Amino acid sequence: MKPVKIGILGLGTVGCGTVSVLARNALEISRRAGREIRIAQASARDLRKKRACPMEGIQLVQDPYEVVRNPEIEVVVELIGGYEPARELVLEAIANGKHVVTANKALIAMYGNEIFAAAQKKGVMVAFEAAVAGGIPIIKAVREGLAGNRIEWMAGIINGTCNFILTEMRDKGADFADVLKEAQRLGYAETDPTFDVEGIDAAHKLTILAAIAFGIPLKFKQAYTEGISKLTRLDVQYAEKLGYRVKLLGIARRTNGGVELRVHPTLIPERRLIANVDGAMNAVLVKGDAVGPTMFYGAGAGAEPTASAVVADLVDVVRTLTADPNNRVPHLAFQPDALVDLPI
Ligand code: NDP
Ligand code: HSE
Repeated sequence: MKPVKIGILGLGTVGCGTVSVLARNALEISRRAGREIRIAQASARDLRKKRACPMEGIQLVQDPYEVVRNPEIEVVVELIGGYEPARELVLEAIANGKHVVTANKALIAMYGNEIFAAAQKKGVMVAFEAAVAGGIPIIKAVREGLAGNRIEWMAGIINGTCNFILTEMRDKGADFADVLKEAQRLGYAETDPTFDVEGIDAAHKLTILAAIAFGIPLKFKQAYTEGISKLTRLDVQYAEKLGYRVKLLGIARRTNGGVELRVHPTLIPERRLIANVDGAMNAVLVKGDAVGPTMFYGAGAGAEPTASAVVADLVDVVRTLTADPNNRVPHLAFQPDALVDLPI
């Protein structure tokens, strides 16, 4: 069978991680996908920059529109980040009949309703596992693994940068600004780190998780959002003395009137499992009526952990493409018009 040609928009931390994982595990990945996945083209702003991944066989271009308009490319992987030009590029890729994989939670939380409606109309898939909790397959776990449950609530550490900052402030008495710089150096932080430290990134992710768990439209603007930028190391260290850990939590729960979404620093007794999730690791607790409480743990940020989720989506998309069209289960499609609009 012919290889599936894909195009990657953005060759930064996650883009290069994705190229590396696809190259290193090519055999296993093509076996699982049912076809070889070949990167035909990739785009980046600066063509002279040295890339931290193997570039053999990949045509590097500066104009991302060249990738979304390339007739040979079947799947576009958007790893630029932010609202624009990512939104316009993804909508154009969909209009051109291409399937999309993205790690961009800002894009999905803000414009997902529009994007999924366009994808549904065109009959293409949009997959976004890497958008929430990096390498933890939490989207698939909630959508598929817990599909038989009525989800009651979810609570998670879903921003690696904030968790890394809080851990370093507690353990090393480090300064907020210094640790943030280190998180940027390690590739955890967003291009605009206020998204991380003001809780916006966590609210993007919570919005996406809640849409899947509760079957509601994406309602990012209705989430209560408070970050960690006003916390000092004394706050964190005093909490420790009293037997608590400070964690930035995203919480979504059913209420009598609908669904509540909130992100804020929370004091958690240190004996709790989630209080001991440190560094850039993430953890998501999900309570289903049948299964009871579950907890998912893993790396929430970084090149290859995030690439792990991007590549899993690619495998899913290619597997679905490869299946007999009459027997395809469109499990990746998000159906905005089938959602129940619970008030938030
Ligand atoms: P980077 O900033 O490392 O990479 C962004 C890439 O996009 C770079 O290659 C850059 O080009 C290119 N780019 C930036 N702006 C434009 C533009 N206006 N037009 C065209 N190309 C552009 O980002 P990350 O890899 O960290 O993040 C990518 C996505 O993944 C984001 O949506 C992010 O939220 C998400 N994500 C990131 C995680 C992480 O740990 N970093 C984890 C989970 C999700 P150039 O290299 O030439 O500057
Ligand atoms: N900036 C994000 C974080 C990247 O720190 O969690 C992963 O989504």
